[in-house]
Amino acid sequence: MPWDAVTGAFGYTGRYVASRLLASGRNVRTLTGHPARPSPFGDGVPVLPLRWDEPRALARSLEGADTLYNTYWIRFARNRLSHAVAVERSRSLFQAAARAGVRRVVHVSITGARVDSPLPYFRGKALVERALQASGLSWAIVRPALIFGPQDILLHNIAWILRRLPVFIVFGDGRYPIQPVHVEDLADLAVDLGRRDERVAVDAVGPETYAYEDLVWAIAAALGRRPRIAHTPPAAAWALGAALSLVVGDVVVTRDEIAGLMAGLLVSGEAPTGSRRLSAWLQANAGELGRHWVSELERHYR
Ligand SMILES: NC(=O)c1ccc[n+]([C@@H]2O[C@H](COP(=O)([O-])OP(=O)(O)OC[C@H]3O[C@@H](n4cnc5c(N)ncnc54)[C@H](OP(=O)(O)O)[C@@H]3O)[C@@H](O)[C@H]2O)c1
Repeated sequence: MPWDAVTGAFGYTGRYVASRLLASGRNVRTLTGHPARPSPFGDGVPVLPLRWDEPRALARSLEGADTLYNTYWIRFARNRLSHAVAVERSRSLFQAAARAGVRRVVHVSITGARVDSPLPYFRGKALVERALQASGLSWAIVRPALIFGPQDILLHNIAWILRRLPVFIVFGDGRYPIQPVHVEDLADLAVDLGRRDERVAVDAVGPETYAYEDLVWAIAAALGRRPRIAHTPPAAAWALGAALSLVVGDVVVTRDEIAGLMAGLLVSGEAPTGSRRLSAWLQANAGELGRHWVSELERHYR
């Protein structure tokens, strides 16, 4: 019986991709570094270990898979895990998929990925795209901007700050654009591309584009807050973020994330692929938004 492999099916985006696949009658297995994490699918999604150090074992894990949905990436470099290492790991995953005879790879990248980007996150994403395109596999690349949904980090943590602190720091003028896509729209697109055969790269963005500061105001309005907004240079915003990181025990924001946002990389010039509106989602989810800090370190390092 053919099956599809999803990296991180118990995580954020991968969970929605896996859910869509299961709902359409596909069998799903997941490759994850957290095999002990509770599965939202009960026993419905068997776990395969991510054996980065053993390429043959990685390929064996993928034998029999029809499509690999790859969400693997790291938000920031930490300990010995840099974006350069994540590029190499992604490359070895594609090589393993090719060796295992996987029919197709649907890869989740990001808007603004460019090999000449000065930002390791975005440069690395572009290098991974290149590696996939050179792999000989059939491929589709999905490039989301900001992904919003129940488990997302940025919007929840902006809301957390708005609920608790009287002042919200906006880096620079706050006018840089951001075009969020709902995680279910992204999953629909990925699964649709998985069914096809053509080699294609497409931005995954929703119907609404916000200036960053307007996004903050939209979240504040949904929460019924009227914060004071303070504009600071990016270095000062990062330093304040680092101080808050100590309070919440997480990495609030990185210099690269600030630079990427300010460079307007989280937006597309293509037609929207998603239909769900962030404005409606904020209204529907305001009660839960920002109640708890959503921790990257908790999710991936503890
Ligand atoms: N979230 C966004 O707003 C956003 C925006 C644009 C693009 N993207 C891209 O969308 C994809 C999915 O993002 P997501 O937010 O949904 O991620 P996620 O579910 O938290 O993680 C996706 C995968 O990457 C692995 N991973 C993440 N951080 C890791 C770390 N520090 N060490 C080892 N493995 C790590 C996870 O491993 P485990 O299975 O072990 O957890 C999982 O397999 C990524 O490629 C990301 O670059 C996300």
